[in-house]
Amino acid sequence: PEPLKVLGKRKGLNVGNAIGGRWFRDPAYKALMARECNMLVAENEGKWQALEPRPGEYQFEAADAMYAWARQQGMLVRGHNLIWQDAKWLPKWVNEYDFGAQPAQAAEALLRKHIVTVCDHFGGIIHSYDVVNEAVDPASGALRANVFTQHLGAVEQIDLAFRVAREHAPGAQLVYNDYMRADEGSTKHREGVLKLLHALKSRGTPVHALGLQSHIGSWDEVSSGSQHQRVWRQFLDEVTGMGLDLLVTEFDVNDRKLPADVTARDAGVAALAKDYLDVTFSYPQCRDFLMWGMADHASWLQEWKEAPRTDGLPMRPTPFDDHLRAKPLRDAIA
Ligand code: G3I
Repeated sequence: PEPLKVLGKRKGLNVGNAIGGRWFRDPAYKALMARECNMLVAENEGKWQALEPRPGEYQFEAADAMYAWARQQGMLVRGHNLIWQDAKWLPKWVNEYDFGAQPAQAAEALLRKHIVTVCDHFGGIIHSYDVVNEAVDPASGALRANVFTQHLGAVEQIDLAFRVAREHAPGAQLVYNDYMRADEGSTKHREGVLKLLHALKSRGTPVHALGLQSHIGSWDEVSSGSQHQRVWRQFLDEVTGMGLDLLVTEFDVNDRKLPADVTARDAGVAALAKDYLDVTFSYPQCRDFLMWGMADHASWLQEWKEAPRTDGLPMRPTPFDDHLRAKPLRDAIA
């Protein structure tokens, strides 16, 4: 079959994958990625925690190595992410930082220093940046709080992050990235994201696109596929109506509610993907499709303990199996 990147190119879509450090040492996995993809994102190596584990001690080696390999292969590179709003995923030292007597100035200085250092280091090689990741609390739709929102204001801080990124990565597409879904459980999340995007647009914030993480799957037993499609189209209409582009940034399919039988499960996963991608790919504003892992054994979902399968079986969330053989999900994407 033709590689996904070839099919993507015909449609004007980049096809990419998030690669983790462990899989970056696996030649067979890398060969699969090089065959199918023309875009790379580092699964963890571009995060603040990875780049600056201790204040002032920047460690660029792991990300540099991945990006250099991508460029050798002729791939584009996405940066993920400059600021992760969920305090849980900010470096511990940032959460515990002493902002002193003038906390607003100190918080702005710290935020600027991080974005400037990272953008200046990678320079023009980054095609697009997730400038801000996961700012909306999915349960309430409100903006999440962290040390930056506390001292600078929530929308103000997000706006600042985008402005600093634009100055120091002038050629990059600047993205707000989040994991809102189409199901009913995600209603507040979608509303919160729309509210944030409207607020940013009305301030003139240089945000170019919404990153649709697209960790889809069998979350909601009630809604049918067509209900999801209607809700998703309505959401994407409103986003594109603001002049924003769309990117699928972290695609995978959680199969926790699908049967154990592998044939039935793989068919179910493919059907969920097709429903979702039929709608998402119908928008000409959607230019990138990135998988969050290409083979089942390389998926973060195998280690995610919050919502495993009740039968304890490993999930089958990606287009290739543990032996790098194509699954029905690959056909669905194609
Ligand atoms: O590398 C260390 C290893 O040395 C250590 O022994 C081990 C013990 O826990 O941890 C390893 O680090 C883990 C890292 O993944 C690499 O496997 C971290 O604990 C773990 O928290 C980290 O999880 C990542 C998670 O983001 C948090 O950063 C996942 O791999 C990654 O897939 C996930 O990706 C996120 C996106 O960035 C944002 N959207 C949601 C997506 C899925 O949660």
